[in-house]
Amino acid sequence: MKRFVLAAIAAVALGGAAYADTIKVGVIGPFSGPFALQGKNFKAGIDAYMAMNGKKVGKDEVEVIYRDVPQADPAQSKALAQELVVKEKVQYLAGFYFTPDAMAVTPILKQANVPMVIFNAATSAIVTKSPLVVRTSFTTWQTSTPIAKVASDAGVKKVISVVSDYGPGVDAENAFKAGFEKQGGQVVQAIRMPLSTNDFSPIMQRIKDSGAQGVFAFLPSGPTTLGFVKAYNENGLKSAGIKLFAPGDLTQESDLPALGDAALGMQTTFHYAISHDSAENKAFVAAAGKAIGNPAELTFPAVGAFDGMHVIYKMIEATGGKQDAQKAVDAVKGLSWVSPRGPVAIDPESRHITQNIYLREVAKGSDGKYYNKEIQTFEKQGDPGLAAAK
Ligand code: PHB
Repeated sequence: MKRFVLAAIAAVALGGAAYADTIKVGVIGPFSGPFALQGKNFKAGIDAYMAMNGKKVGKDEVEVIYRDVPQADPAQSKALAQELVVKEKVQYLAGFYFTPDAMAVTPILKQANVPMVIFNAATSAIVTKSPLVVRTSFTTWQTSTPIAKVASDAGVKKVISVVSDYGPGVDAENAFKAGFEKQGGQVVQAIRMPLSTNDFSPIMQRIKDSGAQGVFAFLPSGPTTLGFVKAYNENGLKSAGIKLFAPGDLTQESDLPALGDAALGMQTTFHYAISHDSAENKAFVAAAGKAIGNPAELTFPAVGAFDGMHVIYKMIEATGGKQDAQKAVDAVKGLSWVSPRGPVAIDPESRHITQNIYLREVAKGSDGKYYNKEIQTFEKQGDPGLAAAK
């Protein structure tokens, strides 16, 4: 006892340095394979946040440990999350590009006493699976609801919907249908494609045959979306006047050079554009561009990760570095800040991010580079999908 008191006094005399801890954050995402660029953007967002805010929270040092799940693979995601908790003793789990990878980990959070901060996975229901989930990305309900109004305002009455057949695709299909029918429009056909689909020509034929004036589409960003938009352009749908309506996953900035002039004018709704005009975004793009090496590779998962780190830093601050998952999560309920994407807040009920959704159009700058140009703002959007998720 006496020795403990002496040690404590010595520690205080040394500025408490003796008690400093390393707080480990385990980040799961696609860091190799076809979706590696999305994981690279997680890392760029994390590195940018730590470069701008330091590696320390109070006296504790933050250490990020990465684990690779190249494609949606819930079993692998769960095994790696367990390994991070048991062997690495991480206090936080974060990342999760694909919905199934996040869903698979929610059952272990409570026993592990670890919060999960989702940097991307966008199915509304994930936050209902555990009170320890907080999300800093978006949901496809959030991004696909406003595009239904855009389609209707463009005078389109009949749309065919085409989505990847898993959580965020089904949510996007439902969100678009609900929004479009509210505007008096009609979804004439709803196609769900396996996530592994990479030949889109047969789908393009079905779209043409449907007689719809427009197509609503959602696929997870990556080689999938690039292939889909290319097929839309190359199979003559664009030239036939069949309009494409989609959330911004389909025009992520890193894909724009490969899509070229064919994508010019394409309108999408999304929570973030690299071109967003604000001081916060300029600072973020500079730091994340430096972190990723080639700024042309920057895309939206970087901002989800950057804001996710902000939430984790606030959690560490609120718990004084102690492992208390519920206290950490409670501390960020209602937290608001100015993100590179604009003003945001963590909704205290859902623990999902409230944010502006922007209508953007693919444009070409005076420097010859393609970008998503923000042309309209739908302010302070919560997640309309939560009612459906319950
Ligand atoms: C998801 O799996 O939740 C997901 C992945 C990529 C996206 C959107 C949603 O672009």
